[in-house]
Amino acid sequence: MAEPEQLVVEAQRQAAAATTLDELSKVRTTVSGKRSPLVAARKALGGLDPEARREAGQALNAAKSAIDEVLASREAELAAAARAEKLAAERLDLTEVTEQPANGHLHVITQTWQELEDVFVGMGYRVAEGPEIESEWYNFGALNFPLGHPARDMYDTLYVDYGEPGSTLLRTHTSPVQARVMENQKPPIYVVAPGRCFRQDTADATHMPVFHQIEGLVVDRDTTLGDLAGTIEAFTAAYFGPGFTSRLRPSYFPFTEPSAEFDIQRPDGTWLELGGCGMVHPNVLKACGIDPEQWQGFAFGFGIDRLALIRFGIDDLRELWTNDVRFLEQF
Ligand code: DAH
Repeated sequence: MAEPEQLVVEAQRQAAAATTLDELSKVRTTVSGKRSPLVAARKALGGLDPEARREAGQALNAAKSAIDEVLASREAELAAAARAEKLAAERLDLTEVTEQPANGHLHVITQTWQELEDVFVGMGYRVAEGPEIESEWYNFGALNFPLGHPARDMYDTLYVDYGEPGSTLLRTHTSPVQARVMENQKPPIYVVAPGRCFRQDTADATHMPVFHQIEGLVVDRDTTLGDLAGTIEAFTAAYFGPGFTSRLRPSYFPFTEPSAEFDIQRPDGTWLELGGCGMVHPNVLKACGIDPEQWQGFAFGFGIDRLALIRFGIDDLRELWTNDVRFLEQF
């Protein structure tokens, strides 16, 4: 019969030789499983007389504990090694990036929006903002579109299911910001309000259901149509550069009187329609708590996206929304 100490030494040797948890599990079967010398020695105890049986039994129990301990500590070692190996295999080697990734830049609409703000801020204007979800009152009512006025139909309005039916909508233009500014600020007022607008339109080369406008509003004493025309001309020169001029053509908007459409002329002589403008209608001033006998104003509004098309020679509005990097990185 093997000596208990020998069994422990043998278990130590085999455990140390095991290099994986699988191998160790086989060692466990060999040194302490059903067919192991340890279990055989236990069975053999029955043949001894009581005195010798007790002594040998204690020695075997001690050997069994020692073997269990050997196996447990080797198992802990191998498990730690396996974990370390797995971590090393999964580690990302960030030092492998040798080239600097390309820098992104602002979207062409954002660039245009910011340049427009800069031009007007340079002319002494402040930037104002209003909500995209707007009340029927600010989008139409305060702007002298009475309920049921046919001009409301020009706007293909998207209504929001909130409050009374028809009371809440996605703003169809940035003009409601005019009314909000006049309510909250005393004249003289010089503001521009860029923002996102919405109309029930099918996307095509020149229309999108979501688009951007910039609104301008001036309210001061003795403001005239000449000031409006001069402002549009100064803006055209500042934004497009020398060689570009502008003109006003009579038009109609409920919130201005007189109203005009303004066009810009390219150096090659061709004209492009850009936006609407006019003298703020006295009804609008009154609706916003401003006395039209003392103050007069002018306003204008045009599409930022369309301006970007003209400026950068892009021929389809939808290109601005696909976010194809090969397109965007050209601007
Ligand atoms: N809000 C008008 C539109 O979207 C554009 C416009 C016309 C704005 C005349 C103005 C203005 O401020 O005076 O069709």
